[in-house]
Amino acid sequence: MIPNATRAMRQSMHAVAFDKIGDRYDEAFPNKEGQEAATEWLIDRLPPGGRVLDVGCGTGAPTARRLSEAGFEVTGIDISEVMLELARRNAPRATFLRLDMVDVDESLGTFDAIVGFFSVLMLSRMEIPMLLRRFRDLLVPGGIFLLSMVEEDLDEAPVAFLGHPVRVSAYPRGVLGSTVARAGFEILDLRAVAYTPVPLGAWPEIQLFLYCRRDDH
Ligand SMILES: C[S@@+](CC[C@H](N)C(=O)[O-])C[C@H]1O[C@@H](n2cnc3c(N)ncnc32)[C@H](O)[C@@H]1O
Repeated sequence: MIPNATRAMRQSMHAVAFDKIGDRYDEAFPNKEGQEAATEWLIDRLPPGGRVLDVGCGTGAPTARRLSEAGFEVTGIDISEVMLELARRNAPRATFLRLDMVDVDESLGTFDAIVGFFSVLMLSRMEIPMLLRRFRDLLVPGGIFLLSMVEEDLDEAPVAFLGHPVRVSAYPRGVLGSTVARAGFEILDLRAVAYTPVPLGAWPEIQLFLYCRRDDH
């Protein structure tokens, strides 16, 4: 269990940071080929009208927009009201809620897929395994989980993200794979992408995309 005060501090730090970042986020990360490729892969596997939860949906571009325009029922959750406002404009057919991902529960219903692109990394390594198990329980049998993280070895490390203080966690790919598998997922594919964000001074990162299915064996 994470003490409530620690959690409240994290929530407020990240909400303030992303409220200030707003649409500068899409300017700094204009190329989201990794998310786009994973989303197209998902579209080929979803049932017509399938339900998708987009965790830490950000501006809704490109993921919630693409999925909702393709006819899927998308719920996006985020902690930042400014990001949610942008998402409502970018993906008007989707539903957006202000919700901390650690509070997702069965009141949202079940999902054919859950996507978490560069959002789960904003929790501590203590919280991530519990959250992954919660995601597994919210998926229908055989449901799909797409996760992207940056490859590093960090636990709640303080970093300045586009000039704003946040804390991030990350794993080397082998540890990430075993953490996800232990939470009850079969890993169908792991794709590593080298990426350099646009702002001057940003260093290249390795992005990991895990394509997973709920393991029902
Ligand atoms: C790095 S951005 C990624 C946005 C989007 N998924 C993408 O791939 O472009 C991380 C997002 O997660 C949101 N976020 C951070 N902590 C969160 C939390 N505890 N619960 C829900 N959303 C959170 C931030 O507000 C931000 O919009």
